[in-house]
Amino acid sequence: MNSSRFLGRTTFGDIKNLGNLMSREDAIKLLEEWVPNVRLRLHMFQVAHLMKSWAVSKNYDEIAIKKWELSGLLHDADWEKWPELHCKKIVEFLEDKSIDPEVIRTIASHGPNHFGVDPVSEMEKMIYAFDELSGFVHAYSLMRPNKYEGMEVSSVKRKLKDKMFAAQVSREEIYDAVNRAEILIDDLIKFVIENQKNCCLE
Ligand SMILES: [Fe+2]
Repeated sequence: MNSSRFLGRTTFGDIKNLGNLMSREDAIKLLEEWVPNVRLRLHMFQVAHLMKSWAVSKNYDEIAIKKWELSGLLHDADWEKWPELHCKKIVEFLEDKSIDPEVIRTIASHGPNHFGVDPVSEMEKMIYAFDELSGFVHAYSLMRPNKYEGMEVSSVKRKLKDKMFAAQVSREEIYDAVNRAEILIDDLIKFVIENQKNCCLE
């Protein structure tokens, strides 16, 4: 367990700011400023797209869908410029901007082993579940001639067992996230393949 980035608290933001969101345009502007690395930016677009697609698939209301998307969009915003302050920086920035506490807590809980915040809500559990798997499936798509086309759940599972492939992606965290979210790994992989193929830098 890596505790050097532990946030040291489990409550974030102010309840009176519920529903207070940042527009997608402003979030993208922030990413352009804080995240020069386009690959990292793509990762955030992909996680945001998965979060949004999940909320849409559950028929959540418009505000909820925006919260799910914004959490994905900003979850690694501080990673490139402030690696030693990763998570702390973006959480405090959003608190200063009086952003919705559920969005801030979701960002704070996207890596329980790194930030010491256990995901509790569905939105928190799903960002943790999507985060590593999204990057893994994307890495796999890059080595396939037809990218996402015809990608099978069973091949992704086989790749997960291949420790040499995308070695930086923590399998332990993927399985831990799936357990916490109480979803089947097959269903999660299927959802990521089906939705991520429609996403790019917009
Ligand atoms: Fe991430």
